[in-house]
Amino acid sequence: MKAINLPAKIMLLGAGELGKEFVIAAQRLGNCVIAVDRYDNAPAMQVADCCEVISMLNGDDLERIASKHQPDLIVPELEAIRTEKLEEFEQRGITVIPTAAATNYTMNRDRIRELAHTQLGLRTAKYGYAQNLDELITISEEIGFPNVIKPVMSSSGKGQSIVKNKSGVEQAWNYAFAGSRGDTHKVIIEEFIDFDIEITLLTIKQWNAPTIFCPPIGHRQERGDYQESWQPAGITNEQILQAQAIAKKVTDALGGAGIFGVEFFVTQYEVIFSELSPRPHDTGMVTLISQNLNEFELHLRAVLGLPIPKIELFDCAASAVILASDKLDTVAYTGVAEALLEPDVDIRLFGKPNANAYRRMGVALAKAEDVTKARAKAAQAASKVNVVNSH
Ligand SMILES: Nc1ncnc2c1ncn2[C@@H]1O[C@H](COP(=O)(O)OP(=O)(O)O)[C@@H](O)[C@H]1O
Ligand SMILES: [Mg+2]
Repeated sequence: MKAINLPAKIMLLGAGELGKEFVIAAQRLGNCVIAVDRYDNAPAMQVADCCEVISMLNGDDLERIASKHQPDLIVPELEAIRTEKLEEFEQRGITVIPTAAATNYTMNRDRIRELAHTQLGLRTAKYGYAQNLDELITISEEIGFPNVIKPVMSSSGKGQSIVKNKSGVEQAWNYAFAGSRGDTHKVIIEEFIDFDIEITLLTIKQWNAPTIFCPPIGHRQERGDYQESWQPAGITNEQILQAQAIAKKVTDALGGAGIFGVEFFVTQYEVIFSELSPRPHDTGMVTLISQNLNEFELHLRAVLGLPIPKIELFDCAASAVILASDKLDTVAYTGVAEALLEPDVDIRLFGKPNANAYRRMGVALAKAEDVTKARAKAAQAASKVNVVNSH
């Protein structure tokens, strides 16, 4: 058991909406949180004890703020971090969540894929890599069409496209290249999986207690970004057990403690591992209304070594994202009161200082007696809220 005394001083790397809910959970148990992001007034900064604005890909900046604040724990909320620096911090006795090595494995798509497929022998979509257009054409033809092309270093569907035939490959390369962040220009090409449903299995790995799971969450993505999620996912017990066994294998290989959002494609015959986040997952925001402990509270308990005696799903529930439709320098919201007229509906607005088209600004949450009704209620509530210019 890692002895983590309360209150803990937690440095949160990434201060988005998921970080914000994590800070709220941490504050409720009296902890101190330093929220870090590359821009000021990010959602989690609005509820943290203090904040730092730095590039988290810059090791010197990370060093400077770690020396200044001397955290007990570093909790990453995003992938784009100078992970070698996290390894140094870990060697110096700071606990990195889930571990520094795990953040390194999950920073790029290729490393976690190699771990899952090559080391652990798990079924994934067929895949290959390319570092230039010629390689991409060759590998695409080997894998076949349609296929999915993604920068190895990207998230939220950035730079990702589905390619139907050879003539679309060049455009996919250019798009991936434009959408890639960081210093690598490598893409992964994946077989397109024609799944019945995709799910996130929230998996909680504990320092000194067995790994436990939330009921699986179904979700729907557009443009590589989640639009709605629901719980329970509505897959069979056999499929749940298969997903749990795979999630346990991968998270055991990564080590440490915390919640993981393990993503799967589910077809009639197979449960196929896709990717995972070593932290709360965006589709898991549905747990803000569905469970006795939401994914942020579960993450907090797991990282602090606090017990989780029970995870209970209260009702069928759903979440639907509230997106901006335009670029806005300042934001305000209309329709919130109308959305909240409905019982068992709740709204979270993240407090982002500005907007771009499709930027996620909030989420609508709903409960109902079945998933279909919960999804309809969440979608309706989300559609009532409009993100507008505050002038
Ligand atoms: N091989 C694939 N076959 C079918 N759909 C895919 C495949 N890869 C990705 N997708 C779709 O794109 C979404 C985003 O891809 P993902 O690999 O999860 O990237 P991100 O890190 O951006 O979430 C997935 O949730 C799924 O809907
Ligand atoms: Mg994903």
